[in-house]
Amino acid sequence: MEVKTSLLDNMIGVGDMVLLEPLSEDSFLENLKKRFDHSEIYTYIGSVVISMNPYRSLPIYTPDKVEEYRNRNFYELSPHIYALADEAYRSLRDQDKDQCILITGESGAGKTEASKLVMSYVAAVCGKGQEVNKVKEQLLQSNPVLEAFGNAKTVRNDNSSRFGKYMDIEFDFKGDPLGGVISNYLLEKSRVVKQPRGERNFHVFYQLLSGASDDTLKKLRLHRDVSKYNYLSLDSAVVSGLDDAANFRTVRNAMQIVGFMEDEVQSVLQLVAAVLKLGNIEFKPESRCNGTDESRIKDKNDLKEMCELLGIEQSVLERAFSYRTVEAKLEKVSTTLNVAQAYYARDALAKNLYSRLFTWLVTRINESIKAQTKTRHKVMGVLDIYGFEIFEDNSFEQFIINYCNEKLQQIFIELTLREEQEEYVREGIEWTNIEYFNNAVICDLIENNKNGILAMLDEECLRPGTVTDETFLDKLNTVCAEHQHFESRLSKNSKFLTDHSLPHNCFRIQHYAGKVLYRVEGFMDKNNDLLYRDLSQAMYKANHSLIKQLFPEGNPAKVNLKRPPTAGFQFRASVSTLMKNLQTKNPNYIRCIKPNDKKAPHIFTESLIRHQVRYLGLMENVRVRRAGYAFRQTYEPCLERYKMLCKRTWPHWRGRAREGVEVLMADLQVPAEEFSYGRSKIFIRNPRTLFFLEERRRQCLQDLATLIQKIYRGWKCRSHFLLLKKSQIVVAAWYRRYAQQKKYQRIKSATTVVQSYARGWQARKLLRELKYQKRCEEAATTIAAYWHGTQARRELRQLKEEARNKHAVSVIWAGWQGTKARRELRRLKEEARRKHAVAVIWAYWQGLKVRREYRKFFRAHAGKKIYDFTIQRIMQKYFLGLRNNLPSMSPIDKNWPARTYLFLDGAHAELRRIFHLWRCKKYRSQFTEERKAVYEEKLEASEIFKDKKALYPSSVSQPFKGDYLEISKNPKYQKLNNAVDEKVLLADVVNKINRANGKGTARIFLPTKKSVVLADQKTGQVKASVPLPDLTSVSVSTQSDGFFALKLKEGSASAVKGDFLLSSEHLIEIITKLHRIGATATDREQLSIDISDEFLVQFKQDKVCVKFVQGAPKNGNSVSCKRKNNRLLEVSVPATA
Ligand SMILES: Nc1ncnc2c1ncn2[C@@H]1O[C@H](COP(=O)(O)OP(=O)(O)OP(=O)(O)O)[C@@H](O)[C@H]1O
Ligand SMILES: [Mg+2]
Repeated sequence: MEVKTSLLDNMIGVGDMVLLEPLSEDSFLENLKKRFDHSEIYTYIGSVVISMNPYRSLPIYTPDKVEEYRNRNFYELSPHIYALADEAYRSLRDQDKDQCILITGESGAGKTEASKLVMSYVAAVCGKGQEVNKVKEQLLQSNPVLEAFGNAKTVRNDNSSRFGKYMDIEFDFKGDPLGGVISNYLLEKSRVVKQPRGERNFHVFYQLLSGASDDTLKKLRLHRDVSKYNYLSLDSAVVSGLDDAANFRTVRNAMQIVGFMEDEVQSVLQLVAAVLKLGNIEFKPESRCNGTDESRIKDKNDLKEMCELLGIEQSVLERAFSYRTVEAKLEKVSTTLNVAQAYYARDALAKNLYSRLFTWLVTRINESIKAQTKTRHKVMGVLDIYGFEIFEDNSFEQFIINYCNEKLQQIFIELTLREEQEEYVREGIEWTNIEYFNNAVICDLIENNKNGILAMLDEECLRPGTVTDETFLDKLNTVCAEHQHFESRLSKNSKFLTDHSLPHNCFRIQHYAGKVLYRVEGFMDKNNDLLYRDLSQAMYKANHSLIKQLFPEGNPAKVNLKRPPTAGFQFRASVSTLMKNLQTKNPNYIRCIKPNDKKAPHIFTESLIRHQVRYLGLMENVRVRRAGYAFRQTYEPCLERYKMLCKRTWPHWRGRAREGVEVLMADLQVPAEEFSYGRSKIFIRNPRTLFFLEERRRQCLQDLATLIQKIYRGWKCRSHFLLLKKSQIVVAAWYRRYAQQKKYQRIKSATTVVQSYARGWQARKLLRELKYQKRCEEAATTIAAYWHGTQARRELRQLKEEARNKHAVSVIWAGWQGTKARRELRRLKEEARRKHAVAVIWAYWQGLKVRREYRKFFRAHAGKKIYDFTIQRIMQKYFLGLRNNLPSMSPIDKNWPARTYLFLDGAHAELRRIFHLWRCKKYRSQFTEERKAVYEEKLEASEIFKDKKALYPSSVSQPFKGDYLEISKNPKYQKLNNAVDEKVLLADVVNKINRANGKGTARIFLPTKKSVVLADQKTGQVKASVPLPDLTSVSVSTQSDGFFALKLKEGSASAVKGDFLLSSEHLIEIITKLHRIGATATDREQLSIDISDEFLVQFKQDKVCVKFVQGAPKNGNSVSCKRKNNRLLEVSVPATA
């Protein structure tokens, strides 16, 4: 069963300030403190949630808590921001009411955290699914991106939002998120160029420097060291508890989730880097001859790098920092900037660059998170806007912020009252007027179109002539002097003339939250928010798509001479839109309170909180809420809670809840003026009544508790007794059963024993009888056996006696026979010995005779026998030795075992020859036909040239290859191959020796069986073809050269041109081949081969003598041929070693 709880249960102090009794500022603070000390940071004022910043993480945001508050009534559980979020979400989903959650409070009070808690709660309880989760994730991840670029460390808050944010989350009819729209308000851009002491610039600068990789920093031309950048304050560059590097990664990840492209991220980082670079540009004065001062850039390196980053031409930006062009109608006037103006221009550019980048980021996020469908959405707006600010030195920004808070206060009052009123009407309760302070008058002082402060400021900014902050103050002094919330020393209102707390250059406004002193210095400037046109035009010229987008007014084609709207005007417009937007929605308030200035947990600085309670108008809030009825509750839970106070309603009321409550109230005699019955709720006017009911309930609960205790104890004792009784019966039954079992077993075992004794006795008796019988039988048998034994032994003895007698006779007989036999044996042995002796003597005698005979014979043949035997042995040994030492089977192996005996010399040599012939035969028998032919050729070559030509020995080892040019395969010689019909026997390149100079020309030499062809080596064209019958002889020298002359038959057709003198490296092969062709031819004579060192060669008509001489080796051992005279060609051949 679900346990119904209430806000009123286990309360620390009171959970709803409306119930505070007595109501005073002190009791209010006391209640807050009490709750704060018990870690109860949320307290209600009706439906408004007061949130105290705990400055520590509390375990109250867990998924379990989310579940606890899910779908529960607002007052059902102890106060929590989740209850508000749940209420808002459910009335959006179920009642189709657009909601807005307005979070206010001063800097550091926890507004941003509260807004994130609301968003995360809604994300946790709304629908799920892939698409919905993606939308949720994008909405949640927009926060880190905006916080990096829009938040900074201030003295009040380490993560202070420096912009106002309003986010509309859009839902479909089921309550699933579809997307969102973010609006941003007035980024504090002055922070970009200057930060108060102890504060930092926007987080993103520090995150980029400490979190980006070295490579990224190099690309952005940045150093990691923060101190290198003028725009970054150093005194709090590192904030404890803030990990910039990790946050940078989170931001990059969030940008990716939100949907930023990588090039967009890079562009954004480039712009951030450019702002840092811009801050490092410094100027120096330079006097001109006309006496004016001009500024010059000190060190152009930063400018150069910034221009490179943004793709701007350096000279364009440099000029924009030096000149200012003012256009008036058709005239353009350029004036130089002095150093101060140059710095002003630089800072203005940096501020504009950054704030426009921020606005672009918001637009870009909106693009990503916008709802995709066009159906009607339900909307929940979350407003996290800067709280009311009162500094020592308040300027334009504080003025604008406080104005915004005035507007919010006004809408708060309006909406709270309206809601209250609406509820009364809804419930049919009479409305009584409520007194409260309406701050509309302050809003009017600021925003009035005619004489409001913002209008005055705009008027002053637009007015021609000299306008300064002082002239603006003068104007205020005149126009607003009479206003009761405006104070100035010089106003016409003389009562401030002597107020020394009000300096001359200041004005003071009595805001709803307190008096704030504003210093007018900078108001005009900030309101104008001027960026020289030269700079915006320079930016527009940038070759960087994002920069171009950010400065559209720089487009020369769209020069607009009208002044851009002032910052004040823009802000007023956007606040007005926001207010209109909020008014259409059901408001839910979270009012954040900062407990101390130290950002520390557990510290409750009363003065600080009192101040906030005052300016947030919380007391008024309670009063407004209590003005009519302090407490209201629907009938059902009311009856459920208090029904025990009346016998008629306790324990069950069967009728309608309202009637039950009426019976209850009548029974309790609560005065009629203390409460009213609405349609669905009972309204209790005074907290006292409620506490009276609560007290009665408490007492009643105590009585009920006693009663319950009493009944419970009785029931417990009774059931205990019954239990004991029941157990006793069970135990007794069990025991009896056990005892009977034991007894039975004892009797049973005794019977068994007696039985066994009786049976034993009977058995033993029987056994004895049987044993006696058996013994009698055995005795008879034994006696018979003895008798038979005795008989047998007697008989045996007789037989033995007989046998002994017979045996003695046999033994004596045998002894006698033995003695006779031995005697005979001895006689026979004696006789045999005698006969043997006679035979031996005879044999000796015969032997002697034979040996004498043999000796004579032996002496006659012994010499020859021994000789033959010895020779036989030697021959045997020789042949066996030879067999074991035979040389290898290679015919060229010259080894042969050494001769062992001189007398075998001839045989040894003959054996060697035979062996050689035999192994040659063996060797030849392995030859194939081709090899045989080769060897035949080689044999022929040896017959022709051996010992005749010095070249021959070197040719022996060279195989005769024949077709050196592979003429049939080589496509180059295909034509030549076709021209020769016969089989080509040899194809080689030879040199044809020129008679004129003895030099050679390369020719292909192709002998076939019918002719010898000479062809061009390169083209393969046939130069000469000599039929073989025309070839009579070949002449070669005896030397180691390759020259040969082919001599032709005189008178033949081939001989017209004369003989051929050629040289070849394969001379031996060529001549052998030619000779062999001749040897097989039948149609002509054998080709004769002349080997001589001088021969004649017929060149056309002349005969030339070719002479071979041995010369000293020249030209690397080569043969040279020289013409000596008309009739003599001398071939010099190097001497062979
Ligand atoms: N509910 C909370 N639980 C724990 N810590 C909190 C809570 N609310 C706020 N804080 C702490 O207080 C700090 C300041 O809160 P937050 O940034 O929300 O203030 P703010 O009101 O938005 O201030 P500003 O106006 O400067 O932006 C947070 O950084 C966080 O440390
Ligand atoms: Mg904030």
